[in-house]
Amino acid sequence: MKVAIPKETVNGEFRVSASPEVVGKLVGLGFDVFIEEGAGLGASFADGAYKDVGAKISNNMEAVLKSADMVWKINAPTPKQINGMKKGAILLANLDSLNNKKGNQALAKAEIIAFGMELMPRISRAQSMDILSSQANLAGYKAVLDAANEYGCALPMMMTAAGTVPPAKVFIMGVGVAGLQAIATAKRLGAVVTATDVRPATREQVESLGGKFLTVDEEMEKGAETDTGYAKEMPQEYFVKQKQIVAEHVKKQNIVITTALIPGRPAPVLMTKEMISTMQPGSVIVDLAVDAGGNVEGSKSGEIVVSSNGVKIVGHTNLPSRIAESASSLFGRNLLNFIKPMVDNDKGSLNFDWEDETVLGTLVSRDGKVVNERLQSKKKGS
Ligand code: NAI
Repeated sequence: MKVAIPKETVNGEFRVSASPEVVGKLVGLGFDVFIEEGAGLGASFADGAYKDVGAKISNNMEAVLKSADMVWKINAPTPKQINGMKKGAILLANLDSLNNKKGNQALAKAEIIAFGMELMPRISRAQSMDILSSQANLAGYKAVLDAANEYGCALPMMMTAAGTVPPAKVFIMGVGVAGLQAIATAKRLGAVVTATDVRPATREQVESLGGKFLTVDEEMEKGAETDTGYAKEMPQEYFVKQKQIVAEHVKKQNIVITTALIPGRPAPVLMTKEMISTMQPGSVIVDLAVDAGGNVEGSKSGEIVVSSNGVKIVGHTNLPSRIAESASSLFGRNLLNFIKPMVDNDKGSLNFDWEDETVLGTLVSRDGKVVNERLQSKKKGS
């Protein structure tokens, strides 16, 4: 089978869908891999590194796409790429399918067998295939480094001959994969960490990392988690209570990192302008949900906004791309782990088990139709 790995086209996207290590494994499994010239450069992978593991470098990806049996991408392909792919080609990417109805239909119309890797079911067997986890983990880490970079004081307590610098107080809102890594990173840097989430299961996780959990309402939080491990949209009364408790807490925080997301819905607003106005000048807020509408009032995609009282609101988009080498390595391994059980050994071909939970869960389009249950029934948050 011929596999195509095009260069990503989205502005500011430095990742590539496979590292040379993963491409070497694909070649070893019998696949014929074509990489677009320069596709890995943003992630520090030179063309030569791919060549060394047996891939072919192409300066005409359009021609490669016409005959490729499988295409790996980070982001959804452009309409031009979709129309330039052959019928029946397999596509693996983050299709953002819950928010991209038009894109899903275009893939179906072009008769692409498209897998939205973001839809990977949250079962233990699929952990190694989960692009949302691998990328969110790195984003959580990077968010703390971005905050530390903007913050004018040290994070750890420093006892020096000239006096003591107190440790920074870091508050993490939303304790999913990104939030947990943010807690771990901030702790490693010596900060005093607190965190909150609507899902009560996170309390133990926060505490096991040495953070302190901020509870909003135990009763309402009991029903806050879907069967698939995601957060539900909370009732208005919860937000009122959350605002009061958080408002008191953030007054004393130096760094706030927000990571709260609800799949297929706009991100909930957790930090209001009013709360920001009570924070100390020089405090930093990193809004990791900025791409999904933002958890922080006034945050702007791709910008650092300074509030009238001197609080910096960091809205970097696409954090995994800011740590592109690690992110690309893990993304490619996720894709490889997904197809590996279905590879016909040494023949470089795939035999999909269409009943497999990971296949059924991620398949967006096949035989000219959008087939995924989550997309058809529009049960977005499930
Ligand atoms: P996410 O990225 O969808 O959301 C981030 C966090 O924001 C979640 O913890 C969510 O509960 C929280 N949140 C949503 N609304 C909130 C609000 N109003 N206030 C405060 N917090 C709010 O979640 P993510 O990181 O994808 O993970 C969710 C869960 O799924 C985790 O427990 C994770 O361990 C589990 N998981 C399981 C996998 C598997 O078994 N294969 C793979 C990946 C994650």
